[in-house]
Amino acid sequence: MKFKIAVIKGDGIGPEVVNEAIKVLNAVGNRFGHTFHFQEVVAGGQAIDSFGEPLPAKALDTCRASDSVLLGAVGGPRWDALPGHLRPERALLGLRSGLDLFANIRPAVLFPALKGACPLRQDIAEKGIDLVVVRESTGGIYFGKRGRKNSGADESAYDTELYSRMEVERIARIAFETAAKRRKHVTSIDKANILESSRLWREVVHEVASSYPDITLADMLVDNAAMQLVRNPSAFDVIVTSNMFGDILSDEAAQITGSIGILASASLGSSSLGMYEPIHGSAPDIAGQGKANPIATILSAAMMLKMSFGLEEEAYAVEKAVNDALEAGYRTGDIMEPGKKLVGTETMGRVITENILKANQ
Ligand code: IPM
Ligand code: MG
Repeated sequence: MKFKIAVIKGDGIGPEVVNEAIKVLNAVGNRFGHTFHFQEVVAGGQAIDSFGEPLPAKALDTCRASDSVLLGAVGGPRWDALPGHLRPERALLGLRSGLDLFANIRPAVLFPALKGACPLRQDIAEKGIDLVVVRESTGGIYFGKRGRKNSGADESAYDTELYSRMEVERIARIAFETAAKRRKHVTSIDKANILESSRLWREVVHEVASSYPDITLADMLVDNAAMQLVRNPSAFDVIVTSNMFGDILSDEAAQITGSIGILASASLGSSSLGMYEPIHGSAPDIAGQGKANPIATILSAAMMLKMSFGLEEEAYAVEKAVNDALEAGYRTGDIMEPGKKLVGTETMGRVITENILKANQ
């Protein structure tokens, strides 16, 4: 089969990690007989420098016309002083809303080979972590009415959280469908003791739940959820939550696996077009040094194979190649432990690529 992939390498370590993911996809193409056509798209800080805006219309059009989007990372201190609508991060929000990618899927998995990297007590780590955050990503306070008024001592600013029934319903469905293929438990996280938008959220999630009798649903307040995630993470299967709560909790979920450098994510909408990116950011402090961990981007490419292209076997081959590299002791600096082999971005990418091709013989 043939696939057109829009590639946004982005800023900081983005280009380094995406290059390795491209090598991996080419190895998959080689082994399984697919052709991936990569079209580079400039967005984020790089686009601000070249065109004066983070997401030029042409960039969005190219993404829209492709089968999927692979993104490294955007942002960096160079652009921090720019006003909100001109910051590199706007590119991400513009892509999510412009491509109608309302579901941000973020699995947090504690890889057996990396148990020692888990910052939680070992008896908690022993129980394992395998959860997925389904975060609403085109609504809520990120996109609500905002503004500033008055000046001087009276100056004030506001952002608003607004959710429609339709928005909650469609993200809840994604969560229940995701749970159906997993351990069949959904935790819906909100702040319904305070927020009206959360009360509607809770109501609608329960309505959707009635179409999924095999799946259990629990409501949890967000402050409690932040606590339970470090106290008893193995109790979570699928988490569904709003844009902002999901932003915060997905970082927490990633961190407790000890390995933000290996966690992948997908942004999905109602068509097969998705956007796939590592959970980590552009890490400007190590950019250009060949030290970054490419695994999160490589596993994002695997999610693309599975979720956008329906290539399950191919996705599994990538996941296995990553797992084998870790089991063989290869580690980038972020996940290094005593006695393991410290390697850079390119070597990690090469080992994984070779693992994929090896299975060819
Ligand atoms: C994320 C990031 C983004 C977000 C920023 C960079 C806009 O933190 O993908 O979680 O807040 O959604
Ligand atoms: Mg975030």
